[in-house]
Amino acid sequence: MTTGTPLPQYCPPPDVLDDLELLRTGVVAPLDRVAPGSIVSLRLPADVAGKALAAGGVEVVDPEGVPVARLAADGGLDEDSELDLDAVPEWVGAPSPRTFERYYVGPAANAGQLEPGVVTVIVDRPMKTDDLLHIAAEAGKRPLQFLVLAGPSLTAHSPGVASIRSALSAVSRMGRGHVVAVPMDRRTVGEKRERVIAAYAPGDVVDLEAPETPEARHGLVLFFTGLSGSGKSTIARSVRDAILEDGERSVTLLDGDLVRRHLSAGLSFSAADRETNIRRIGWVAAEISRHGGIAICSPIAPFRSTRRAVRHMVAEAGGDFLLVHISTPLAECERRDRKGLYAKARRGEIADFTGISSPYEEPTEADLVIDTTGITIDAAVERVLQALRLRGHLTTEETLEWAI
Ligand code: ADX
Repeated sequence: MTTGTPLPQYCPPPDVLDDLELLRTGVVAPLDRVAPGSIVSLRLPADVAGKALAAGGVEVVDPEGVPVARLAADGGLDEDSELDLDAVPEWVGAPSPRTFERYYVGPAANAGQLEPGVVTVIVDRPMKTDDLLHIAAEAGKRPLQFLVLAGPSLTAHSPGVASIRSALSAVSRMGRGHVVAVPMDRRTVGEKRERVIAAYAPGDVVDLEAPETPEARHGLVLFFTGLSGSGKSTIARSVRDAILEDGERSVTLLDGDLVRRHLSAGLSFSAADRETNIRRIGWVAAEISRHGGIAICSPIAPFRSTRRAVRHMVAEAGGDFLLVHISTPLAECERRDRKGLYAKARRGEIADFTGISSPYEEPTEADLVIDTTGITIDAAVERVLQALRLRGHLTTEETLEWAI
């Protein structure tokens, strides 16, 4: 391609730039050219095609205008005045660096970093804990390589970034593994996908399972009951945070005081109003569980029959129900008296105060009983999380450590 005229520049769409990267870095070797109908093709739009023909070639640039390659242009325009190139690119340079650029390594250089017997995991979406369990089950103790399909890569916000980040996190959580990124769209199927995987994977390949939608998971109502000041709210909040930090499930917290400010605003503490309050909480919680979510409730809920009614509502919605009695004794709750309510109740300033002037029916139907006297919040939270793990509502580091 020797020509006196300067070549017109063309910035192809991101997927085409990625295809050129596959060619340039030898991923699809021995293929070394763009050709019509091939897995790497390049069609010049009408506004560039004519100029390219006149100049005898085109200079491909990335979105930042950095020249990547020069290609000869000849032949005839098609009916849309476009031109399909059939040429071996003359590489000018690498495109501008991407996010996580250091993980985009060509197959030859990458092969040198692999351990014998490595199993390649094809990462085509961000991975979660369940995926790591699946990988551990498939690969056993063999060395791991995470091949992240990270295209379109030459865009401002590549969708592959989250996948690469999840692969790096997988390496640290599983204590082993190697990460490599390839600029190919995760949805690519057929010959191109097969060739790319073959170029990087010397041995066995593991695909991720189809992600479980939140609806596919079993809903749960985690219902705390206990006296005011027993520690229900604190434990409930910490359990919520632990689940949210794990990132696998959606959670709604229906705390006693919070509900009374919104859902049950205006209700008193008479037995009838308490009943209404708890039934409202139960109804909302059951709906959340119907859709596979987790509802954490932490009202006093002093009456056994009301708690039973909630258990039934949740069962009818298809959710799991776990009743946790925070059994901290009245004397300890009163000693803490964080809100000063017990003192007021003793002075007769609050009517119908649970434990003082209104009954609390000790649960006989609790799934878990925790007395917070003399134990830390963390220890109490851990007991609840353990119960959730046992029932399959949470997959956590511990399950993972046990599996790998
Ligand atoms: S429940 O009996 O209807 O389940 P809920 O959990 O909503 O009670 O509200 C309890 C909270 O309301 C307590 O934590 C306390 O801060 C406040 N409260 C105000 N008056 C009373 C009362 N008479 N009895 C119990 N808690 C009260």
